[in-house]
Amino acid sequence: MAESNPFPGENNTGHFWDDNLRELSNPPPRWWMIAFWLSFAWWVLYGILYPMWPTPWAQDGPGHTTGILGWSQIREFERGMAQVEAVRAQFEEQIAGMSAEEIIADPGLLQYVRSSARVLFGDYCAACHGSGGQGNPGYPVLADDDWLYGGTIAKITESITYGRKGAMTAHKDILTEAEVDQLARFVVTMSEGEPGSDEDWALFNAKGCIACHGPKGNGVLAELPDGTIVTVGASNLTDGIWRFEPGGYESARHTILYGVNQDVEGSRSAVMPAFGEAGTGTSGRLESSQIKKLAIYVHDLGGGR
Ligand code: HEC
Ligand code: HEC
Repeated sequence: MAESNPFPGENNTGHFWDDNLRELSNPPPRWWMIAFWLSFAWWVLYGILYPMWPTPWAQDGPGHTTGILGWSQIREFERGMAQVEAVRAQFEEQIAGMSAEEIIADPGLLQYVRSSARVLFGDYCAACHGSGGQGNPGYPVLADDDWLYGGTIAKITESITYGRKGAMTAHKDILTEAEVDQLARFVVTMSEGEPGSDEDWALFNAKGCIACHGPKGNGVLAELPDGTIVTVGASNLTDGIWRFEPGGYESARHTILYGVNQDVEGSRSAVMPAFGEAGTGTSGRLESSQIKKLAIYVHDLGGGR
């Protein structure tokens, strides 16, 4: 072959095309070879340090080499979780020893409580009260300033811990058709912000509505000097917010006739389950610090009196 090489002394491979087109045998550039061997070395090193080779023959079932560093994804995940847990534990410890008012005054803690309580609210409360506390048909809105039992931290804590069960008498056997009709109209009048006539008020008082809905019909029986309200959980009839769907005349008539949480067919049902700790004699679905967080969260949504 060498003797027939028309380009003697050249590092060609002896392959020719079209007379003078030929294949040369040049080594790859040095930098390229260095990179090649380095990456090969990296591959070997990686296999020694990290999990790499499947071991389908292993006696305790198919697995893989573990690498001398002992790294694994699950361990990395666990380490990350432990870090999160350490930060959380710090906050949780503080929260356990502080009152809700002290927590609200601490912006860092408050932010932690808000995000952690949002998750709790989604898990335990949103099914009834809506994901933002905006309420659902038959369940009260928590994101406004209209409260059945009061919107202070203490009242909200009480509502969550012990649950609530408002009661209103069924009036179907107590009132005449005409009285029910007049009262239902009066409730609609009040809900539209109108004062109502003296006869309306006289009937409202005479039939005992005042005993629960208060002398102003707004559900407040008394207001204490510190601003907290005394209620038995009766609705505010003087605002446009209806507790029972769809609201309006027929709805009011129905509530007056059949009451709330009564052992009567047609009765409205309004039960807030208890979430308190087992120690308080209740179902204990939540710890006291979880209730504290939720009370702050709900207060934040629409707190007040
Ligand atoms: C099964 C449905 C249901 C669940 C779950 C529920 N609630 Fe309620 N909640 C109610 C009902 C119904 C009422 C109204 C009770 C009444 O009318 O007497 C209420 C009332 C309340 C009140 C009093 C509102 C006021 O105006 O005074 C608060 C506060 C409250 N819930 C917070 C919560 C929180 C926080 C959670 C989650 C831990 C929760 N609820 C879970 C049904 C529920
Ligand atoms: C024993 C206490 C009590 C008495 C007496 C009472 N109510 Fe109620 N009333 C309640 C409670 C509690 C609710 C429901 C609150 C809740 O769970 O949201 C309610 C709800 C209502 C509602 C529904 C409001 C809405 O937003 O859907 C109307 C209307 C109403 N009452 C009218 C009256 C009238 C009129 C009388 C007098 C005949 C009266 N109530 C007497 C306690 C009472």
